Amino acid sequence: MDPNGKRAVITGGASGLGAAVVQSLLMAGAQVAVLDRHIAHIAPQQGLLAIECDITNDAHVEAAIGQVVADLGGIDICLNCAGIGGIGPIATLAGPGDMDQFRHVVDVNLLGAVNVTRFAAHHMMHNEPQGTDGARGIIINTASIASYEGQEGMGPYAASKAALAALVLVWARDLSRHNIRAMGIAPGFFETPLTHDIPDTLVDELLETVEYPRRPGRAEEFAELAMFIIRNEMLNGEVIRIDGGTRPPARTRWAAGEG
Ligand SMILES: NC(=O)c1ccc[n+]([C@@H]2O[C@H](COP(=O)([O-])OP(=O)(O)OC[C@H]3O[C@@H](n4cnc5c(N)ncnc54)[C@H](O)[C@@H]3O)[C@@H](O)[C@H]2O)c1
Repeated sequence: MDPNGKRAVITGGASGLGAAVVQSLLMAGAQVAVLDRHIAHIAPQQGLLAIECDITNDAHVEAAIGQVVADLGGIDICLNCAGIGGIGPIATLAGPGDMDQFRHVVDVNLLGAVNVTRFAAHHMMHNEPQGTDGARGIIINTASIASYEGQEGMGPYAASKAALAALVLVWARDLSRHNIRAMGIAPGFFETPLTHDIPDTLVDELLETVEYPRRPGRAEEFAELAMFIIRNEMLNGEVIRIDGGTRPPARTRWAAGEG
């Protein structure tokens, strides 16, 4: 799908990976709606609509998607990029793991994406077919390498991200009769506000298992992949890792107090 003239919804587009995709889409001639909890710092830009929206709140999501459709005339691209970290063991000697925290991480990372996608996909179904393949839209989930290799203590985050990865093929199958694709991106370690507070010693350790290039990913590299996925109509029902070939070990020395 050529992004020029298309209408995109980017959750979490106010920061980090999502914000980089927002800029790439604007450069490519798309109109972009950012759905994010924090939008106060977003500078006005031609083609950019910033909507304050907590994706865990059903009423917020419905109202925000309604505003996007009213203002932009429809939705062709939906990138689910809003997300939070969340760690905690399933149980310790001191007691069972924190259920409220587990629920909250799943609520934001997984159910927020599901909620936005169900509205976005419904609107996409009513688009005029575009291009030689008659495309009506694309959904992209932001998963993680933790979808596959969750490290010790990463239960809430890994569970939410594994589910997002699993939904990619299901949604591709749900939506194919409407010429709507579903894809996923599984980033490794990227330098963004989300990872900014991770201690240097842990960052160094996380990078040890990266094959090449042994450095944090850049948000622009994530955006390049998102744009490639949007443009290439044959990509469907798959999650692409962007991680320098890393396969994280079961646990870090840092978490074990040895780092
Ligand atoms: N940075 C990494 O290394 C990395 C690696 C793998 C996956 N990811 C995933 O990529 C996505 C983007 O991460 P990032 O590094 O750019 O993080 P970030 O913190 O820079 O951006 C996340 C954005 O999501 C928004 N957000 C959080 N909760 C929200 C809610 N309930 N409603 C609406 N907006 C909400 C935040 O306000 C923020 O603007 C996340 O889903 C994250 O899990 C990041």
